[in-house]
Amino acid sequence: MKKMIIRGGRPLYGEIKISGFKNAALPLLYASVLAADVSVIGNVPRILDVFRTLEILESMGAIARFVDGNTVLCDTRFVRPCSSPDGLVRKLRASAYLLGAELARFGKTRAAIPGGCSIGRRPLDLHLAAFRTLGAEVRESEDAIGATAPSGLHGGEIVFGKVSVGATVNAILAAVGARGETILRGVAREPHITDLCDYLTACGAAISGVGSDCLRIRGGLPLHGATYALMPDMIEAGTFLCACGAAGGEICLRGAKAEHLSLLCTTLREMGMEIRCAPQQICASRPGPLAPFSLVAEPYPGFPTDMHPQFAALATGIPGCSRIRETVFPDRFRYVGELRRLGATIEARDGEVMINGGSSLHPGCVFATDLRAGAAEVIAALSIPGETVIRDAEILERGYDALPGKLRALGVPVIAEF
Ligand code: UD1
Repeated sequence: MKKMIIRGGRPLYGEIKISGFKNAALPLLYASVLAADVSVIGNVPRILDVFRTLEILESMGAIARFVDGNTVLCDTRFVRPCSSPDGLVRKLRASAYLLGAELARFGKTRAAIPGGCSIGRRPLDLHLAAFRTLGAEVRESEDAIGATAPSGLHGGEIVFGKVSVGATVNAILAAVGARGETILRGVAREPHITDLCDYLTACGAAISGVGSDCLRIRGGLPLHGATYALMPDMIEAGTFLCACGAAGGEICLRGAKAEHLSLLCTTLREMGMEIRCAPQQICASRPGPLAPFSLVAEPYPGFPTDMHPQFAALATGIPGCSRIRETVFPDRFRYVGELRRLGATIEARDGEVMINGGSSLHPGCVFATDLRAGAAEVIAALSIPGETVIRDAEILERGYDALPGKLRALGVPVIAEF
């Protein structure tokens, strides 16, 4: 999708289904390499990062493909280690999970340095330190990472000084393949980490402490494939809740889980939105004007960094000063200049963004500089009467399943140009 043209300024009405979570799908697909067997994974979103991951796995000898709407079959029996295609691996961040998965199963790995959204520094030092603790020898060059554990990985104690989702995933994958017990302290507690642990447990792994910041893994057990359905995308759901806040109206998000979004829903309620939660559904409306807010983006259960740009876009329409302090990716502000092009009074300094909202935005042309920046621009565009053009919109396809179609289902005229 080269560009998305949104005719905004009208309230959203209707119901859509929330897709499976990108950040759960990608680790799980790489985790399927751990068992030389067949896994069937349900509720997989049809997004670019998933298609790229399937292509990476297939080029390594797996059969990894959609067998119906949202179900992926992964047959990883014939995967060849150290054979991932550099070009594709460089296109996404989650390909870093190949390192942990290959080390666990084959005792060796090699992959190009992964890419992903440019939202600031994204080093891999914590991932590699975890591998070293479990007995791997790691080699880093300018463009690739290799690691070997000729006599296999062994258990150990890994203490993370900083919470990292990616390093937690890689350490879990490696620990499941390491002989003996591994204790992981200071791990990320995001719901998709729980999803990964639940899938691996279904494959025969022994993991305790799931959901807490300390995991114990008895590694080296024989693994088999499993059938598993992914959690719904809490960031997609959050993005649509912000869209409703910005444009008004009343929407229902089928399949969304309120327990993953409790802080977000509380914040939106405090701002003046009506949010009604049922077991498999969240409905939202904006009965009147919203109040400005102050937030800190931090690791789960804190406010998610992946929702920060969308809330900043929502704040542009709220009279008064709103603030968001970003502690996870302190340079995640490329969207700020784009919102300014639409007339927003917004400034980022020292890891904090300040928005003086309420002066009307005007239509214009912006660039989707990264996935959630693009989402923020969509939210702003929905609040603006007239046509706003979002260029480089392909990046939205990396993480939002059928976004133009879902917006149309809520009554928004959208043109997607490919
Ligand atoms: C993942 C998500 C991303 C989300 C982020 C935080 C995927 C594909 N991406 O990214 O959408 O925004 O979690 O919720 O799931 N860090 C280090 N050294 C490391 C690893 C990380 O210093 O080895 C730092 C990073 O620079 C960052 C912080 O730790 O400042 C958090 O990063 P991390 O949680 O690892 O994010 P990702 O796994 O890259």
